[in-house]
Amino acid sequence: MAHLSSNIIHFSCVLLIFMNMPSNIFSSKILISAIYGEGSHFLAGASLGEGLARKGHDVTMLISNAYEHRLEDPRYANLSFEVFKHPVPPEEVREAFAFASTLVFRDDNIEFFSLMKNMSKRTVDDCEAVVTDKELMLRLEKNDAIIVDITWPCARYIQVVLEEKMKSQRHRTMISLSATNPWSGYLKLGGAPVNYAYFPEISTGFNNRMTFSQKILNIIQTNLIAVVGEQLTPPLYREMGKRLGLRPNIHPIFDMQDFDLHLLNINFASDFVTPLSPSIIPVGGLTVRPLQTLNEELEEFVQSSGEHGVIVFTLGTYLASITTIRPEIVTMFAEAFRRLPQKVIWQLKELPDWELPSNVKAMPWLPQNDLLGHPKTRAFMYQGGNNGFQEACYHGVPIVVIPLQGDQYDVAARIEARGLGKKIEKLELNAEIIYETLTEVIKNPSYKKVADQVSAIYKDQPMSAPDRAAFWIEHVIKFGGAYMRSPANDLTFIQYHLLDVYAFLTAVIVIFLAVVYYTLKFCLTRCCRMIGLGSSRKSKTE
Ligand SMILES: *[C@@H]1O[C@H](CO)[C@@H](O)[C@H](O)[C@H]1NC(C)=O
Ligand SMILES: *[C@@H]1O[C@H](CO)[C@@H](O)[C@H](O)[C@H]1NC(C)=O
Repeated sequence: MAHLSSNIIHFSCVLLIFMNMPSNIFSSKILISAIYGEGSHFLAGASLGEGLARKGHDVTMLISNAYEHRLEDPRYANLSFEVFKHPVPPEEVREAFAFASTLVFRDDNIEFFSLMKNMSKRTVDDCEAVVTDKELMLRLEKNDAIIVDITWPCARYIQVVLEEKMKSQRHRTMISLSATNPWSGYLKLGGAPVNYAYFPEISTGFNNRMTFSQKILNIIQTNLIAVVGEQLTPPLYREMGKRLGLRPNIHPIFDMQDFDLHLLNINFASDFVTPLSPSIIPVGGLTVRPLQTLNEELEEFVQSSGEHGVIVFTLGTYLASITTIRPEIVTMFAEAFRRLPQKVIWQLKELPDWELPSNVKAMPWLPQNDLLGHPKTRAFMYQGGNNGFQEACYHGVPIVVIPLQGDQYDVAARIEARGLGKKIEKLELNAEIIYETLTEVIKNPSYKKVADQVSAIYKDQPMSAPDRAAFWIEHVIKFGGAYMRSPANDLTFIQYHLLDVYAFLTAVIVIFLAVVYYTLKFCLTRCCRMIGLGSSRKSKTE
């Protein structure tokens, strides 16, 4: 009897375990650091987190007190949050991001660079705030894996401080995430070969069929990023390391070559093909979610568009407040929209003090993924962020892109090269161009045809992007990534490019040719001399 009941207890325990973890036999604690809680990098990181939470893992997002509202966000109910405090008031952080977005409609490189410098300093101060918060670090110590978005590489220092200062014995699996199209240096850290003849560097806006002069600029850009990037934050991180008494040879970026896994938010259905390495996994489409129905009011508005359909328009989270910053830009877009037969759904936080055209609906936040998946959506006009690109590709929506900065030009290059839509240059923006480009992309069936094909490729996969990422993360938690690590980064520049081998082979060939040359020369002179002697002898005897 006792035996039977213990069996039943055992059986129900097993059942309970399986019920709690539907698709998994182990559960890990995973920390995700994807900047501060706002913007595209956070959204990509959070989607990754949700994929892991669905598999039964305990996922914590590291965010800042400037974006604490995420704690109450019902969309992230299955994630935990750790909040660190900025050393400056949180309003100042939000203002800096808002200010950065006003700069994109101007072409002021000096002011932009000054801002970049200020921001770099702040990100390092923020990192110091995290790693010197003892209680926070004690809680972070419990994680089995850390996923770090490369734009804020603080997690590398979290790892080092846990190991060196707090003597943590726990092994932590380290994973990096590139939320945008990759920088060549990132691919190389993952051990991938990069050929600049057909790999357009990040922020060039080139496609993969470059002209001769573009290839020159491509190489210059690569080196510029390396040089400027090395000047911008690593020295500040080094100073921080010194203040904290860490060993001096830590590098916030280059140390990522020892990470177990590198995740890349791209999909070759829409991206330029480039070779990867076994530890670099493309997981493009992280922010694509299963479709949900629109709320009644929005669905009614979408349906009221009739056969013409709707256009979805956003300039991104940070620029949703453009009404107060640059009111004339709002006027320009409204003028273009007034002439369209389509309805327009526009992400705009503050309404202007005049009335928007009747075919326009302004909303502070868009259910972007659900709108792009709606059968009535005819086009997506936006600034060229990577998440929006992946979502539009997944749902097969033609795109009008208005790139404003950095990697948005690269997304625009991909959109045009693939035939998914058209680009408008920000400095050429006017109501006429907006109207004409939107009309062309909607009327000309070639864009929709390509979009449908790309969408079909995105969907023809055994797993969704977050599930694919989760699978690989679990895999390296179980087995580590060492077996996939390319030896490329252990080689010096000379060894990697085989310069020593070519130099040796060249020397062998040169020596061989020299030996042949001198032997022949020697023989020939001997022969000539003999012939010469013979003939002179002959002439003597005559
Ligand atoms: C949280 O997880 C549960 C179980 O997997 C799921 O049903 C629910 O939709 C998730 N919630 C959110 C907000 O994603
Ligand atoms: C950068 O910081 C300096 C000093 O704190 C300040 O004077 C300057 O205005 C800042 N630049 C930008 C673009 O925010």
